[in-house]
Amino acid sequence: MKLGDEFPNFTAETSKGKITFHEWIGKSWAILFSHPADYTPVCTTELARVSSLIPEFEKRNVKVIALSCNDVESHIGWSKDVQDYAGQDGDLPYPIIADPKRDLAVQFGMLDPEEKDKEGLALTCRAVFIIGSDKKLKLSMLYPATTGRNFDEILRVVDSLQLTVNKKVATPADWKSGGKCMVLPTVKAEEIPTLFPKGVEVRAVPSGKQYLRFTPQP
Ligand code: BEZ
Repeated sequence: MKLGDEFPNFTAETSKGKITFHEWIGKSWAILFSHPADYTPVCTTELARVSSLIPEFEKRNVKVIALSCNDVESHIGWSKDVQDYAGQDGDLPYPIIADPKRDLAVQFGMLDPEEKDKEGLALTCRAVFIIGSDKKLKLSMLYPATTGRNFDEILRVVDSLQLTVNKKVATPADWKSGGKCMVLPTVKAEEIPTLFPKGVEVRAVPSGKQYLRFTPQP
């Protein structure tokens, strides 16, 4: 799957009932993230962190959904541990897709041949797919089982993706919401006063080329 491709629609059983993915996304953005297996330590910390961050995802109009190759019963049982670890009341506030036959894991390239279950079958890696409200793939990341993800970074990239979809800016290294942005290289000098009323600062470089154009976040 390439960036900009429509994320395939699919039907699946989840810990919160059967879903059809595009209908489930509706008008929101979505993050589908996989984990190697239920009842494993790093995965528990990750799903708990996502549970605690639900208000942040909601602020950004993003729905989250997890996936592993375990079945629904396992997801429902494990999600109680996840909520307990997260210190949250009630049920896990987002669904976990059951993919026991690995159909979706294969279709979306999420299997990690280096990580196997007791039967020797490949487990899912820690994939992240960020999907826009237009159902197109905006970003993907693959982490190995041994490295838990940084969900502050995932929120940061959502902020960048949602900003740059509308404004003619890109976000520099280590940018955080509210920080200075870069004017897109395709913007002509004569367009700057209209597009960037807050002003643009050009950082001089040895080449003399004026491409490092900073502007306050529009
Ligand atoms: C974990 O979630 O801790 C984990 C799962 C599979 C392999 C390694 C670590």
